[in-house]
Order: sequence, then C-alpha cells, then structure tokens
Amino acid sequence: MAKDSQKNGPRHVAIIMDGNGRWAQMRGRPRLFGHHAGAKRVREIVESCPELGVKYLTIFAFSTENWKRTQTEVAGLMKLFKRYIQREARDLFEAGVRVRFIGDRVKLADDLVDLMDHLELLTEKNDKCHLTVAINYGGRDEVTRAAKRLAYEVEQGRLSYKDVDAETLAKFLDTHVLPDPDLVIRTSGEARISNFLLWQSAYAEYEFVDTLWPDFTRAEFARVVGNFSGRDRRFGAVREADVN
Ligand code: FPP
Repeated sequence: MAKDSQKNGPRHVAIIMDGNGRWAQMRGRPRLFGHHAGAKRVREIVESCPELGVKYLTIFAFSTENWKRTQTEVAGLMKLFKRYIQREARDLFEAGVRVRFIGDRVKLADDLVDLMDHLELLTEKNDKCHLTVAINYGGRDEVTRAAKRLAYEVEQGRLSYKDVDAETLAKFLDTHVLPDPDLVIRTSGEARISNFLLWQSAYAEYEFVDTLWPDFTRAEFARVVGNFSGRDRRFGAVREADVN
C-alpha cells in the first residue's frame, strides 16, 4: 500500500530507457555492453516500484523502428531479452510482479514469443506490481492494428460503426487492461516521445532527465516520481480557484 505522502504520486509510470549506446561508447565498449548495463537497471527500478506507490510500470525495450539498427545489435538485443526472461522469471514471480508484453509479436522469433507467453502465464495471478515490457512496439503501429481489428468487427456485423468512440477503440489496443500512464520519463537528455504510448499518454506528465539509462538509479527514480506529486493536472479543465 502506498504511504500517505505518496497518495498523489503516479500510479502508472512509463519509461523510455534511452542512452545505453552512448553510455557504452563513452567507455570505449560496444553498444551491447550498454544494453546489458541497462538491463541491470530495469531490475532495480522494478524493485523500487512498490515502495514508491507505483503500481504499473511500462518500459520501452524495442521499438518498431529499432529493426533499422545493425544486425549485430538487433540480434544481441533479442538474445538479451530471452536471457533476461529466463533469468528473472522466478524472481519476478516471487516478488509478486505481473509481467505483460505489448507490441506486435508477429516479427519476433518463436522461442522469444514462447518465453514471453510463459512469463505472462506464470505471473498472471500477481498483483503487487504490473510490469509491461514493450517489444517491437510503436504507438502508430498499435493504433493501426487496433483500427484494423475494429474494422474487422464492423465488417463481420458484430459492431456498428455508429458505436465507435474513443472508449471502443481503446479496447482494441495492446494496453486495454492497463490504466493510462500518469507520468512518462525519458532518460538521456532527448526530449522526444518516439512513438511511445501515443494514445495512452494524451494527459500524461513528461519528465526528461539528462542521465543515461544505465546510470538511472533508484534514488533518481524516487526523485522524479516525487516531483510528480506537486503537479497540477487538470485534464483540459480549469482549476476551481481560477473559474470566474
Ligand atoms: C535505447 O538506448 C535503448 C534501447 C533501444 C534498448 C532498451 C533495452 C534495455 C534497457 C535492455 C534491457 C531491457 C529489458 C526489458 C531486459 P540507445 O541504444 O538508443 O542509446 P543511444 O541513444 O545512446 O544510442
């Protein structure tokens, strides 16, 4: 349970984990070295969620655009995802974390998809913290896939076009069981959202921090999450005190 001081904290935090490549290059090491260091941070940040009152954490691990990277880097990342799932599955389960994956699985290797399915199944009864990992994910791709499925339902006569509204479309998104993110954090000093949770982040707060992802500590995460509580979120409305 979140403490009183965390009552107004973000329930759902989404993170664009950027800067692994630069972190490695600064050390004269290959980019994959940075991704391995980044994976270690994932564990630390997930572990700190319950004490910060963050119930949902969604992380951007691989975008629909990341296939454009070198074959070595893409293959290395896919191998890292497999190893991560194999190594962390038991601990995540025991820590009460429910793991989900979002993104288009069609382009992913069968053995990776099997591991993803297995981890989702293994942790499906957990509720302490909900970790969602975006792999081969793109916001536009997700909305396009959702629109296609919705159009199919209309074509089949199971849905009338007259009933299509934002709520209906959202039911077809990969994230349909998740609340919208309250806070989106991007590391490494870039101030872009790079096709991440485009629909879901319509009213999210954004925090861009300079730290490269492998250096993003639990303490910095706690600070950024703490900053959120002071923000005045109006969702398009006007504060009562400002009504005249
Ligand atoms: C962006 O840094 C990072 C990625 C594209 C990969 C994110 C992956 C991890 C943190 C590894 C582990 C994740 C899991 C879930 C096990 P970048 O390579 O774009 O960095 P740069 O901007 O400095 O080049």
